[in-house]
Amino acid sequence: MHIAIIMDGNGRWAARRGFPRTAGHRQGAEAVNAVVEAAARKGVDILSLYAFSAANWNRPPDEVGALFTLLRRYLLNQTQRCLEQSIRINVIGRRDRLDSKLRQVIQHSECTTAHCTGMLLRIAVDYSSQYSLIEAARSIQLQGNAALDNFTAHLAAVDHSTAPAPSVDLLIRTGGEKRLSDFLLFECAYAELYFTECYWPDFDAHAFDAALQEFARRDRRFGQVASPALAGASHG
Ligand code: IPE
Ligand code: IPE
Ligand code: MG
Repeated sequence: MHIAIIMDGNGRWAARRGFPRTAGHRQGAEAVNAVVEAAARKGVDILSLYAFSAANWNRPPDEVGALFTLLRRYLLNQTQRCLEQSIRINVIGRRDRLDSKLRQVIQHSECTTAHCTGMLLRIAVDYSSQYSLIEAARSIQLQGNAALDNFTAHLAAVDHSTAPAPSVDLLIRTGGEKRLSDFLLFECAYAELYFTECYWPDFDAHAFDAALQEFARRDRRFGQVASPALAGASHG
C-alpha cells in the first residue's frame, strides 16, 4: 500500500494563533514523526510526503530558508530513528537547486537506511510532477523510442526515486484545499483522494487512522464492474 500526503495548512495553523508562518512549519515538522510511525506500525509499504514543491521557491526567502532548515534538521535527527524502525529514506525531486550541504545530508540519510526493508519513506523536495514528466520524456527522446517501454524507470531516474514510480493507493491532503498542486500526477492515476479540513500540524495518528478507515470503505474498480458482493450490498 502506497500512501501520499500533501502536508498543507501550516501557515493557516500559525495565523489562527497569531504566530508567524514559520512557527506553523516547526509544528508541522513535529507532526511528521507521529504520522511516519503510525504508517510504519500499520504496515504501509510506501509513504510519500510532499515537503517542498518547486512552486514553493516563490515564497519569501526567510520562509524558504526556514523550511530547508527544518528539513535538514529532520534528516539529521530522524535518520537514526528510521534505521531503528527499518524505515528506508528516499528524497525525491530535483537536487540541482539544493544547497550542497543539504545534498550531503540527503545522501547520508539515504545511504544509512539503504538496506532497510521496512517502510519506504519518500520525502518530496523541490518536486514538480509536470517537470518530472517532461524531463522523463526528454530522456526517452534522447535514447530512442524503445526507451518508452521503460517510462517509469526514466521517471524514477529524473526523480532520484529508488522505486519506479509506484502507484499511489491513497492520497491525503490536509488543510482543506481540494487540489493536487503538482504532486505525483502520474502515480495518482487511480489513487483514492481524501481531503480533510485538519491543518497539518494537528494531523496525528488518530486522524491518519480515520483516513485509513475511509479508504477501507472505498470500492476501487480500476475501470471494471463492481464486485458482486458490493453490488448486492448497495441494493440491500
Ligand atoms: C504546507 O503549509 C507547507 C508547505 C507548503 C511547505 P503551507 O505553508 O502551505 O500552509 P498554508 O496553506 O499557507 O496554510
Ligand atoms: C502544496 O502546498 C505543497 C506542499 C504541501 C509541500 P501549497 O500550499 O504550496 O499548494 P497550493 O499553493 O495551495 O496549491
Ligand atoms: Mg498551503
